[in-house]
Amino acid sequence: MCGIFGYIGTQQALPLLVEGLRRLEYRGYDSTGVAIHGENDVAVHKTVGKVADLQAILPGQVEGTMGIAHTRWATHGGVTQVNTHPHHAHDGNIHLVHNGIIENFRSLRQHLEQQNIECISETDSEVLVQMMALERAQGATPLEAVQRTLKRVRGTWGLCIMFRDENMLICARNGSPLIIGQGEGEMFVSSDPHPLTSHTQRVVYLDDGDVAVVSRSSITMHSGQGRPSQPNVTVLEEEWGESELGDAPHFMLKEIYEQPDALRQCIAGRIDREMGSGRLGGMRLRHDTLVQTPHVRLLGCGTAYYAAEIGQMLIEKMARIPAVTHISSEFRNNDPVINPKALYLAVSQSGETADTIAAVKEIKLKGGQIFGVVNVVGSTIARLCGQGVYIHSGPEQSVASTKAFTNMVAALAVFATQLGRTRHLSKEQGRELIDQLQQAPHLMETYFEDTGPLSEAVDLLAEAKSVLYLGRGLSASVAKEGALKLMELAYIPCLAYPAGEMKHGPIALLEEGSPVVVVAPNDHLKEKTLSALHECKARGAKIILIHEKGDSIASEGDVSIAVPSIHPWLTPLLTVVPLQLLAYETALRLGRDVDRPRNLAKSVTVE
Ligand code: G6P
Repeated sequence: MCGIFGYIGTQQALPLLVEGLRRLEYRGYDSTGVAIHGENDVAVHKTVGKVADLQAILPGQVEGTMGIAHTRWATHGGVTQVNTHPHHAHDGNIHLVHNGIIENFRSLRQHLEQQNIECISETDSEVLVQMMALERAQGATPLEAVQRTLKRVRGTWGLCIMFRDENMLICARNGSPLIIGQGEGEMFVSSDPHPLTSHTQRVVYLDDGDVAVVSRSSITMHSGQGRPSQPNVTVLEEEWGESELGDAPHFMLKEIYEQPDALRQCIAGRIDREMGSGRLGGMRLRHDTLVQTPHVRLLGCGTAYYAAEIGQMLIEKMARIPAVTHISSEFRNNDPVINPKALYLAVSQSGETADTIAAVKEIKLKGGQIFGVVNVVGSTIARLCGQGVYIHSGPEQSVASTKAFTNMVAALAVFATQLGRTRHLSKEQGRELIDQLQQAPHLMETYFEDTGPLSEAVDLLAEAKSVLYLGRGLSASVAKEGALKLMELAYIPCLAYPAGEMKHGPIALLEEGSPVVVVAPNDHLKEKTLSALHECKARGAKIILIHEKGDSIASEGDVSIAVPSIHPWLTPLLTVVPLQLLAYETALRLGRDVDRPRNLAKSVTVE
């Protein structure tokens, strides 16, 4: 979704801002712009489209050592140049970029109109900069103008503001992340840690309610009613893995193939083979907490939700205590009953998903124990929870999540083992699971040596009106994740169903040649899944079967793709991989923008 990058220092700002925007591209956006503070004026360039389109319209040189930049994902107002950030005040003295949503922007706009100030865009963001200009005209300092404006605003914001007559940026946060990177005589501002890593490791994470005045050499925090204070500078943890595309054609393919290494990073040091247990230090779990917990609840959106569903089943299998998964947006809005003894897990790649953040706040407010299962280090969910497990996938840039999914499953499997060992799981069972989990990266690599007849499957999928995905138990959630991937990337309507439920509805869709993807690893549910497969075949469906290597059921598929065998509780780590590749290859065949599918965003920071 929307991204912010800002710079103040001694270098020319424009190339740094463009590079920052490029590194924010993966979040998903539809228009982009920059404002550069030159000696006498502020130059603004913005366009609908990609950063490359912006580069194409930039003049050869734009002088200036301070500037702000933005990638916009439209919420209020269409995808137009005038709605693109940076926005400026009517007098041209203030420029601003904003992430988030201003809920009361209509009444603020009316207020401005009464003062004869017309907003030129349809956005909620523009009212902020116009309000600040109004405050300035009434004698407020830049800081006062920002603070007074924000007092009147309801909603969420990550803001970076530039004043024509001042050599400073003002940043503010409420519900939308913002990080200041501290260099030598220069400062960087970003909504995402990723663009900062090539400039500095020293960062200041703004908290909700913070306002920061940023000059080349200092950051001063103005939070709440207190006196100005020095910021808390922390070191940006270096994430493993390259975030550049390198020789790969797309980030998605690169990230699919990074899964074995990502998985190794996730489980390294977190396994106690001797005890047959997990060792998740960051969870800070006390033994009595584990023993006494009555149930576990997991929350997530999209891919994270499906990974959480698998985690739920693993917790029930290993620990024999009830576990339930919730879609974050549903959970938070239904006045959930929170049991302070229960364990709550918030699962999120970005750690910035607005619905999951709101659910975390609700749980905390009601006294629940909440843990993050998060990829991005220092993200809002990780910091709100203050305890949990980083899944260590490395930067995931493709909008469609792949290596974060497998690492979420792996981290939850380690957690389930740890919980299970305080309950019903024997040391031998624990050891067996751990051995198999350690084997999983190698088994993924084995699958990559022979990915099976993917292109034959793509022949069936690319022509389809719709695709049905089926699986049972753990594989029902894998089927859902596979369907989500194909729908997101190829824009083909996809339906995922637990195989047993197929005859209660989706069977009506089947006609001669309808593709059905069946996930049937060699677990106790395989035979039942095969019954559903036969019911589909009898109605003319074409079956794409994901099965374990050497299994005689291979002959049941019109196209059969084999993955290596693994412990029945860990099969999602392998069966999901061909589904990721199928979505990728089908999208390519249809000429889709694989890494940045239409309308989607990588981190959904609005409700
Ligand atoms: C968006 C993305 C999905 C992702 C979901 C949750 O919808 O397009 O790929 O699964 O957000 O994101 P999170 O960062 O919380 O895992």
